[in-house]
Amino acid sequence: MKAIVSAPGKLMLLGEHAVVYDYPCLVTAVSSKIKVEIEIISTGIKIEAPQVKDVSFVEESIRFFKEKFKFKEGLSIKTHSEFSSQYGFGSSSAVTVATLYGLSQLFKLNLSKREIFDFGLEITLRIQKVGSGFDIAAATFGKTLYFITGGKKIEILPIDELPLVVGYSGVKASTPKIVNQIKERLRKEKGKIFGIFNKIGKIVEEGKDSLLAKDYQRLGFLMNENHQLLKELGVSTAKLDKMCEAARKAGAYGAKLSGAGGGDCMIALVPKLKKSEIEKAIEKVGGEIIKVKNNANGVCYER
Ligand code: PMV
Repeated sequence: MKAIVSAPGKLMLLGEHAVVYDYPCLVTAVSSKIKVEIEIISTGIKIEAPQVKDVSFVEESIRFFKEKFKFKEGLSIKTHSEFSSQYGFGSSSAVTVATLYGLSQLFKLNLSKREIFDFGLEITLRIQKVGSGFDIAAATFGKTLYFITGGKKIEILPIDELPLVVGYSGVKASTPKIVNQIKERLRKEKGKIFGIFNKIGKIVEEGKDSLLAKDYQRLGFLMNENHQLLKELGVSTAKLDKMCEAARKAGAYGAKLSGAGGGDCMIALVPKLKKSEIEKAIEKVGGEIIKVKNNANGVCYER
């Protein structure tokens, strides 16, 4: 008995950090996926995960599943990632969701996507302690989502793929570390930080309307505003700022860092005709272009 399943990575479009504190965000799933192959074996647990970081998420998913559904069989699990865990595409969340979905298929539990999301969030919080769960939602449901902290709201937006360019800054960021830094600042400067979060929350609401109306000019403007607020939060880097600036100068509607900051990726919303010019401009300041589609499907059974 064997199941092969895959789950996508993600990119934050608008709303990072504020979404940890009961504000909404917009997230899109990307076409780069993590594949997980799960097989029932006689005894023991065998895990082959080339990305070392994934192992603890696979282990914790199995532990959670064993506790909840009381299975005793042995398991062999192999993971394969189409993207580097360096990019900040959410490989840990994708591997967690894929493992849960694979186990659900294999043991014929028929778990709903909502259940996969709830379990996935619990597992990742056991390991990372912090996080809104937006990445678990993207891996589970796919597409482009309007999401509120902990899955209080998960709305799939009826849109097409967005004209995005993705640039990697060459620096791997630690999301839990940066989220904890913001938590620390919140203790000292509550008014200021919540002032920024309120503005980000409004940007997300307006961004959702612009997305649905395909008003890319407006959406780009909102991305620039969001980036500025992330700079005020102190999570951008000189490299990310440079890459965003280069994209804007080369004709992007807007650009911002995507994710916790401190490195990882930036995204630019671009007029299709200017795409290659904008990619070159990002490369010129030292960014690496990552070719990836967005609005991709969520976790699915491959065979
Ligand atoms: O660094 P990433 O791509 O995993 O994004 C983190 C986004 C935060 O809002 C900072 C944290 C979260 O869990 O929502």
